[in-house]
Amino acid sequence: MNKKQTITSIKEAKGKEPLVMITAYDALFAKLVEPYADMILVGDSLNMSFLGKSDTLSATIEQMIYHTNAVCNGAKKSFVICDMPFGTYNTKEEALQNSIKVYKETPADAVKIEGGKDKAHIIEYLTKNGIAVVGHIGLLPQNVRSEGGYRVKGKDEIEIDELIEDAKAVEKAGAFCIVIEGVKPKAAKEVTKSVKIPTIGIGAGADTDGQVLVWSDMLGFFEEFKPKFVKRYLNGAELVKDALKNFAKEVKSREFPDEKHSY
Ligand code: KIV
Repeated sequence: MNKKQTITSIKEAKGKEPLVMITAYDALFAKLVEPYADMILVGDSLNMSFLGKSDTLSATIEQMIYHTNAVCNGAKKSFVICDMPFGTYNTKEEALQNSIKVYKETPADAVKIEGGKDKAHIIEYLTKNGIAVVGHIGLLPQNVRSEGGYRVKGKDEIEIDELIEDAKAVEKAGAFCIVIEGVKPKAAKEVTKSVKIPTIGIGAGADTDGQVLVWSDMLGFFEEFKPKFVKRYLNGAELVKDALKNFAKEVKSREFPDEKHSY
């Protein structure tokens, strides 16, 4: 992508060429991702992929700000979204205070908030106060403990109707796009048809207005588990392990450093 996306260009992409969103947590990878992504998401998934925790719940606003700055340093021309971590947007006042902190301390273009109609009043308060918001409905990783696991949504007509209500409420509240995670493809298709803003799917089938994957999943670095929806475009962990093995072997045998790699 040569030109930085804007909220207007993202909204205009509805129903056209699918939008590409990829997560990044640091400058090095953000620079690699930048040419191929319409939007870079600094996801709170970094708490798992980067920090090694078992879920996203303990991520802090300070952590998100630190990584958002790293990503923005590496990808200066990208549209960057900072995920609001669990417990930082329980009330509209708290959400605004924390979003303002993100805007003041990073160049992030938008924040992302998990939740549907239950969070609409918060999204509305943020958008009315100058914060650009990405919604996130369906499977909500921040609800993993309260729901006792990661639960796929949109399995029957009642759940599909609930998702549509969520999407419409988030749209009405002023969000400019919505991530739909872990829902049946039919549900994602109907949700996508029900709103005028673009939907970005993850584990939501092919009929959304865009797709997002977590970089460490799609590049095969996160080995703990692989959800069904993840396609690995690289065996990153295997490649790195091979390279490290070679380095260790060459150090032990004094093959490295040779003359070519010495002053
Ligand atoms: O935290 C994250 O990386 C996300 C994606 C799964 C959409 O929210």
